[in-house]
Amino acid sequence: MNTKELSLPYILIITLLLLLASHSNSYNQNHTPTNPKQIPAVYVFGDSLVDSGNNNYLPIESYAKFPPYGIDFGGKPTGRYTNGKTVVDYLAIHLGLPFIPPYLSLTKMQRNKIKTGINFASAGSGILSETNNNHSLTLDKQIKLFEKVIKNNLPNLFDDKEKLERHLSESLFVVSTGLNDHFTATGNFQGSRKFDSCLLKEFSLRIQKIYGLGVRRFFVNNIAPAGCFPSMAAKSRPRGECNEKINRAISFYNNHLPNVLQKLQSQLPNFTFIHANLYEHLIELRTTGYKYGISEIWKPCCPNSISGDLKCYPYNATCPNRNTHIFFDVHPSQITNHIYARHCFIEKRICRASRCCTNAN
Ligand SMILES: *[C@@H]1O[C@H](CO)[C@@H](O)[C@H](O)[C@H]1NC(C)=O
Ligand SMILES: *[C@@H]1O[C@H](CO)[C@@H](O)[C@H](O)[C@H]1NC(C)=O
Ligand SMILES: *[C@@H]1O[C@H](CO)[C@@H](O)[C@H](O)[C@H]1NC(C)=O
Repeated sequence: MNTKELSLPYILIITLLLLLASHSNSYNQNHTPTNPKQIPAVYVFGDSLVDSGNNNYLPIESYAKFPPYGIDFGGKPTGRYTNGKTVVDYLAIHLGLPFIPPYLSLTKMQRNKIKTGINFASAGSGILSETNNNHSLTLDKQIKLFEKVIKNNLPNLFDDKEKLERHLSESLFVVSTGLNDHFTATGNFQGSRKFDSCLLKEFSLRIQKIYGLGVRRFFVNNIAPAGCFPSMAAKSRPRGECNEKINRAISFYNNHLPNVLQKLQSQLPNFTFIHANLYEHLIELRTTGYKYGISEIWKPCCPNSISGDLKCYPYNATCPNRNTHIFFDVHPSQITNHIYARHCFIEKRICRASRCCTNAN
């Protein structure tokens, strides 16, 4: 390999992964991380997989406000759509950063002081601004809020424009989106090649918009296999199997996502990305989960019953051992996020850093 092909951003991404790899694989709170200087902050965009509480502040019914959500996050709900930590929480721990607070929870004074990242993600949001626009912060709104932070808050923390630009270009931007666009307002799945091609275009436009604000490092996960979600698997024959029609439709999007990112990299100077294969992770856990103590691959942990509509309502009982279920409700449980983080950051099996320098061949 020509060493000229290794540009600085590429080396930094690799450094990030190596730093992550050098940590012990325990993620408990006593774990004392070193702070790799290379990643000063993590900013988060997207949906319920990574929302850390923004929807609690919207005038909507956010069920993650109530127990048993957060039951393994110090015992109280935070607005996270799982029993404990999200993959972004594990990322923050590994980078030696504090948990990334939800934008809407912060006062103006707090916004002026935070140098380690802000979470704009909102459950229900998608790529398109039509997706759940009355019930979530759409991705466009999330980007607008981030622009406000760049304009009004971050300048208070940096002496000059160059330092601010450097902060933005060195920070990692998590983008987890695309699933909710595949469901209509009435909850029916939608997906076709035409629809997904359009969706990928819209996704690309939004990534370019974020890049235009000075961002250079992206962490993007693909779409989860919705055909395996509890509500879908319960209706499959045999029960518990994944709905392959839905998974195939999602795979079309997922198969093209890396190309979209690669293309952006070839067009945008210094653009780098880590692509995380969430789809593969969840499919794989169905067969390998037993190695980690997972015995229930499709039933949700909450509610602890598969009668009814499989939604975890406030104060519903959870399954007795939450570490045995892939799904907490329709969302991955903490153990699933934990294994995801381990595979991604330590074993680097489901995450790939972008290769660089397309002009070198
Ligand atoms: C969303 O809100 C707009 C304006 O407030 C309203 O016109 C529209 O009907 C709402 N859409 C849905 C699906 O509730
Ligand atoms: C790309 O990175 C180099 C080296 O850090 C920097 O000089 C240049 O301004 C960057 N260009 C863009 C468009 O980010
Ligand atoms: C969950 O809560 C809902 C609403 O309170 C209730 O109707 C339902 O029976 C509960 N389900 C379980 C399994 O506890």
